[in-house]
Amino acid sequence: MRLAVFVLASALSAFALDNGLMKTPPMGWLAWERFRCDIDCENDPKNCISENLFIDMADRLSEDGWRELGYVYVNIDDCWSSMKRDKDGRLQADPKRFPGGIHKLARYMHDRGLKLGIYGDMGTHTCGGYPGTPLDKIELDAQTFADWEVDMFKYDGCYSNATEQEKGYPLMAKALNATGRPIGYSCSWPAYQGGLPPKVNYTQLGEICNLWRNYGDIQDSWDSVLNIADWFFENQDVLVPAAGPGRWNDPDMLIIGDFGLSMDQSRAQMALWAIMAAPLFMSNDLRTISSGARAILQNKMIISINQDALGIQGRRIVKEKSGIEVFLRPLSNNASALVFFSRRHDMPYRYQTTLSKLNYTTGRYKIIDVYTDKATELKDSTSFVVSVNPTGVVMWYVSAPADLSLHYFYRGGKPLGSAYHDDDNAVPRVFL
Ligand SMILES: *[C@@H]1O[C@H](CO)[C@@H](O)[C@H](O)[C@H]1NC(C)=O
Ligand SMILES: *[C@@H]1O[C@H](CO)[C@@H](O)[C@H](O)[C@H]1NC(C)=O
Ligand SMILES: *[C@@H]1O[C@H](CO)[C@@H](O)[C@H](O)[C@H]1NC(C)=O
Ligand SMILES: *[C@@H]1O[C@H](CO)[C@@H](O)[C@H](O)[C@H]1NC(C)=O
Ligand SMILES: *[C@@H]1O[C@H](CO)[C@@H](O)[C@H](O)[C@H]1NC(C)=O
Repeated sequence: MRLAVFVLASALSAFALDNGLMKTPPMGWLAWERFRCDIDCENDPKNCISENLFIDMADRLSEDGWRELGYVYVNIDDCWSSMKRDKDGRLQADPKRFPGGIHKLARYMHDRGLKLGIYGDMGTHTCGGYPGTPLDKIELDAQTFADWEVDMFKYDGCYSNATEQEKGYPLMAKALNATGRPIGYSCSWPAYQGGLPPKVNYTQLGEICNLWRNYGDIQDSWDSVLNIADWFFENQDVLVPAAGPGRWNDPDMLIIGDFGLSMDQSRAQMALWAIMAAPLFMSNDLRTISSGARAILQNKMIISINQDALGIQGRRIVKEKSGIEVFLRPLSNNASALVFFSRRHDMPYRYQTTLSKLNYTTGRYKIIDVYTDKATELKDSTSFVVSVNPTGVVMWYVSAPADLSLHYFYRGGKPLGSAYHDDDNAVPRVFL
């Protein structure tokens, strides 16, 4: 079964967007979910959409250990621009809130080993009512972003129709390419067309976009996380083959560190997003984030699972009447990640199964619980019990013993550090 997945993934990767970017899911910070369209800098100077906000986040990313883990994009969303284009018809940042301009902000990021992302919309207006980038403005705006040395562009779809989108999203891919600057391209197109074939052609998306929003916006609540996860796993037969190096399904931002999730729910979002090979864009306030939320977002094993080089999106493989679900993502070196998730609302549930019931082949496996760092060995036939908290997860990295070598913890020749010292993640849990 796993071999078939490998063959499919490499066959499709030949069609990937050819800008060489985002071979693993992009990681960083994105303003929208947490800061929305707050432009009231007079009354809310710390939280309004202004260059100060992005500078603050860049400082936190570069000084608090995020950048080294891969969180390098600092992405502006809607409401950054002036209501008017300049005298040459070019988009311009709001002069009061971005007095230094976008180019200077990009330089600020680059000086710190970070990247800058920006936002536009394929319709007459952005969702927030700012100037859009309709068909006749695509080349001009792509060139403007390249002139500003922007590294990523999210192209939203408010105030456009299906016919315009069908022209505009591929045209923008061409225009970005023509600038000669590698710019990661995030397309909201499928989200505006229901996210599924026949209206959405994932083969084509993989050719023109690095990532795409398939579904609605995330909100700061567990209901929203669950609704998104359910949609993605219910449609996994369509979505899993669409993903691969350079082309990712995007279930939207991480809301860990905000107001809506408990610690267990935060661990669940991180685990499920890693299984989905999702882009990891946090939308939170890195200036005030709790140490608990930070530990989840900075968990090195989960990040390396999310960033696995094969880029195979995982699936839900078990859905029990008890409300327990099991998810599996195939990883490099014949390893895999398992997530045991509970939809229950009563108490920790002791779920009993075996690896052979989960279709693992005969053998002894090494297991690391990624949130507690506990390691153990397990025969495929050995019955085990995981205790899964209500709306929480247990997440495992699973490999055959011979495969669990240190190089797992290295990426791009750089050590990711030991997986054995992140006490903040430790939660008491019955394990085996
Ligand atoms: C543009 O596309 C060509 C061919 O598809 C590719 O070789 C090149 O790297 C691309 N350039 C950029 C800047 O994306
Ligand atoms: C889409 O919008 C264009 C105007 O840009 C209009 O000419 C066209 O009829 C619209 N198509 C549909 C299907 O509404
Ligand atoms: C989807 O897009 C691919 C690549 O652009 C194309 O070859 C294929 O014919 C399209 N499929 C459908 C059903 O339109
Ligand atoms: C993975 O397993 C297959 C057969 O099960 C084996 O042929 C292959 O060498 C293994 N790959 C690695 C990297 O261990
Ligand atoms: C295991 O494989 C069998 C046979 O292919 C399949 O019916 C079953 O759904 C699989 N179970 C899991 C948990 O993947």
